[in-house]
Amino acid sequence: MRHHPASPSSRLRLAFASLLLVVPAAARAQAARISGERVVPDGPLWIQKAVVYQIYPQTFYDSNGDGVGDLPGIIQKLDYVKSLGVDAIWINPFFDSPFNDAGYDIRDYYEVAPRYGTNDDARRLFEEAHRRGLRVLFDYVISYTAIDHPWFVDSTREERSPHSNWYVWTDNAWKSEEGELCNRFVHGYGQRNGNFMLNFYWSEPALNFGFHQPDPEKKWQLPVDHPDVLALREELRKVLRFWMDMGADGIRADMAGALVKGKGSDEDTKAFWRDIRGTFRTAYPEGFMVSEWSGPRDALDGAFHADFFHWFEGYNDLAQKESWRILNGFSEGHSFFDSAGKGNIAHFLSKYLEQYEATRSKGYVCLPLGNHDLARLNVRRTDAELEMIMAFGITMPGVPFLYYGNEIGMRQLYGLPQIEGAYYPRSGARTPMQWTPGRNLGFSTADPAKLYLPVDAATDAPNVEAQQADPRSLLNKVRRLIALKHSEPALAAYAEFVPLYAKENAYPLVYARADGADVVLAVFNPAARPESAEFPFATPYRSLRLLAGKDVAVTRRAGTLRFDVAGQTYAVYRLER
Ligand code: GLC
Repeated sequence: MRHHPASPSSRLRLAFASLLLVVPAAARAQAARISGERVVPDGPLWIQKAVVYQIYPQTFYDSNGDGVGDLPGIIQKLDYVKSLGVDAIWINPFFDSPFNDAGYDIRDYYEVAPRYGTNDDARRLFEEAHRRGLRVLFDYVISYTAIDHPWFVDSTREERSPHSNWYVWTDNAWKSEEGELCNRFVHGYGQRNGNFMLNFYWSEPALNFGFHQPDPEKKWQLPVDHPDVLALREELRKVLRFWMDMGADGIRADMAGALVKGKGSDEDTKAFWRDIRGTFRTAYPEGFMVSEWSGPRDALDGAFHADFFHWFEGYNDLAQKESWRILNGFSEGHSFFDSAGKGNIAHFLSKYLEQYEATRSKGYVCLPLGNHDLARLNVRRTDAELEMIMAFGITMPGVPFLYYGNEIGMRQLYGLPQIEGAYYPRSGARTPMQWTPGRNLGFSTADPAKLYLPVDAATDAPNVEAQQADPRSLLNKVRRLIALKHSEPALAAYAEFVPLYAKENAYPLVYARADGADVVLAVFNPAARPESAEFPFATPYRSLRLLAGKDVAVTRRAGTLRFDVAGQTYAVYRLER
């Protein structure tokens, strides 16, 4: 049982200590305390109840029949997006690119890639989204550029240019580096006598944010306040302003923790992002900054409003612990959300709580419901199982991010070609959105051989049209779950999270969310067998009102609560007082 520490920095407090007075002292001592204390991190109000929908532009909707999705296609589908009840969309990079990494490798920060449309389409997309009350986050990818970005091409030349220092280059092509970053250098590229550092794939040279403690012996390691480094930073701020001024509502910052180099560089990287946060505060106070840092303690330390928790020990325990589910060779074991019932939610929770407790007053820890780098949630899962994962993700603290297609249970596909850096499991999770039955599942009118990736060929491939018509479909259940996030105060991003029953290698999982006197209880038993949980519970209530899932047997004794839960069942309850 974990207790949340008091947060001295909280701006608002609502202590409901009096609710505890009615239970005997002994029971009180053991009960996980649901205080309902409201701790609201600084940030725009709209993110407090927001759900964000992630759109992969390549494969969402192809409006011109060339086999690749595009921005006008996204515009055409905004009514559908709105109908999900989400508040915002995050679109993966749509900028000019040679597409060695699906567009993360940006060649021109100021231009939409022709295959996606034009800058005017982007402007129209922002306007059309706003007309529907939707916000748009763009992918701010600044730790590297494409290898054929003109800045980089310039930096490969022997003669000096304003861009020579904008990338990390050593000063001797024959000399290898040692230590942590040694295998990140590319030798023998361009005219310049040196090696350049990459940040991810070979084709992604690292932009130069300087070194935390430059080695005095290595003159090529620039300090973070070197004028060329500062000039680069200003240019990148210009990029931010360009898209925000055009109408974007925030950023998803790619590899946000990987800017300044060298041991101990986190503080300098944070300082950069705090500065960007300053720009948001003054120029875009409604703007949302979420990072792919996977280190909420660092990311939320004055810099971002939210950070994803997925490249992190503990995340795999939820739904992709099996090697045949994660498909990238990085995990082995059992997911908690699996009918075998062999997972360990306590492992997830211990890692999660470390971050949550340390950052609760500062920002939000976000658990993605799939994304373009992860396998689909639907790797051999039923709709009922997928619904349970959705209910978990939507009722946990923070801002849920829902990957396109997971709301209808799109499946991970196999045997697809690696395309644009999409090694397993990426390509099988990036296939075209399934809108209708029939040709290309409604994604495109192109010849099927021309599609960016093939569509699901299964005769029972899920699609939006069929699920819209069925009130019991996964799609409609997900819509109802998203609506709860808005209607239940206890499901606000900031509302308190209290695990009530979460044991090593045991089922079910029970937790409370609370905001003042509003309390929601959630219980999940993904195992195929019945399971029960008995735990101290000191909060008084009249009855439990089922908000989602199926009723479970509830036994109430003085100071304890017992849930007997059938196999593969979940319930979300509101406490009626
Ligand atoms: C992020 C992106 C991923 C990309 C990588 C390098 O992790 O999500 O798709 O390949 O950064 O940019």
